[in-house]
Amino acid sequence: VKKIPVNLGPASYQVLIANGLLRHAGASIRQHMGDTARCIVVTAPCIARLWRKPLASSLKAAKINFDVITIPDGEKHKNLATIETLLKKMTIAGADRGSVVIAFGGGVIGDVAGFAASIYMRGLPIVQVPTTLLAQVDAAIGGKTGVNLSTGKNLVGAFHQPKLVLIDPNVLETLSDREFRAGLFEVIKCGVIRDAKLFEELERNLPKVLARDASTLMRAIEASVTVKADVVSQDEREGDLRRILNFGHTVGHALEAATNYKTFLHGEAVAWGMVAAATIGQEAGITPMSVAGRVREIVLRCGPLPAVNVRPNDILKFIQSDKKTLHGIPHFVLPTRIGATTISNKISPAMIRHAVAEITALSGKSGAK
Ligand SMILES: NC(=O)c1ccc[n+]([C@@H]2O[C@H](COP(=O)([O-])OP(=O)(O)OC[C@H]3O[C@@H](n4cnc5c(N)ncnc54)[C@H](O)[C@@H]3O)[C@@H](O)[C@H]2O)c1
Ligand SMILES: [Zn+2]
Repeated sequence: VKKIPVNLGPASYQVLIANGLLRHAGASIRQHMGDTARCIVVTAPCIARLWRKPLASSLKAAKINFDVITIPDGEKHKNLATIETLLKKMTIAGADRGSVVIAFGGGVIGDVAGFAASIYMRGLPIVQVPTTLLAQVDAAIGGKTGVNLSTGKNLVGAFHQPKLVLIDPNVLETLSDREFRAGLFEVIKCGVIRDAKLFEELERNLPKVLARDASTLMRAIEASVTVKADVVSQDEREGDLRRILNFGHTVGHALEAATNYKTFLHGEAVAWGMVAAATIGQEAGITPMSVAGRVREIVLRCGPLPAVNVRPNDILKFIQSDKKTLHGIPHFVLPTRIGATTISNKISPAMIRHAVAEITALSGKSGAK
């Protein structure tokens, strides 16, 4: 079992990664959390159908009492109504201050269960057991939890660090290709911002990764988790360092918003956002041409992406109104080489429009659909 620490003083925790780890989840919880009287497993119906058995048997084997609560997990259910339903179900299941919540699902389940755990009886401990690639390398680590309002995404929430994160790459077997690739773009992001070796390995072994070859995938997940865990360890709350995780997200978030969250999965929007950032970096004289080319190439090699079909001015408007934009001046995370970035607030609207025009043109000829 690989152990990657997230160092946050008294709130420190471990991320454990191993194929088949689900079957040892109960034992891991016992070992890392001591006496756990009872657990409340929060999951979605389809994840329960596919993967409940190994988790349930491991909890039984570890003599941990548990209840399973299912809630719907589409992005459209990531709201306060679902939180209320979940909190009521927790009361009915008899959750009390001695209970531990287990979030068992993708990023939506992790964010919803995490937020519910942070407020139920003023806070219950949570264990994250992420089941999508995106949640394994990103959402489950770092303690951000929350839900959407109809007026904007992730506007309500809390920082609530997990006590333990259990990653079993085997559960990705049942993930759709599209969801898998969407998560892979966050893996690529980790390489670009902080791990040149990971990026090179992806360049070399992309077909194996796409075929979900166990050992190649394991290494990619491990390296990405290390990047996220290191960044979070050094900067728990959205300070300067944590902002590097937003590489590709400035244009990415705007693309999602401009298409009403209907066209792109989050990772897909980030994919185009990374290509746009590479172009912007190149034009601003920050990103060497060869580096921009490598970013563009690896993204396009991952397979089809939904085409970009938005007006550059719309993207600009969304960027200027983003909650992360200070005083209307966007901050861009731009690669200086593979594995390192800088943050620039000197990007002109013309450069942004040009980059959006470029991804639009690229998506026309990349076999995008
Ligand atoms: N808290 C954070 O730091 C953070 C970071 C990144 C993203 N997020 C959030 O995460 C969410 C996106 O997460 P996501 O991409 O995991 O999407 P998701 O949770 O919606 O899951 C995607 C789909 O995959 C299904 N699924 C999950 N695991 C499966 C498995 N093993 N096999 C088959 N199907 C499976 C789900 O039922 C769902 O239909 C967004 O709401 C985003 O805001 C949070
Ligand atoms: Zn992201």
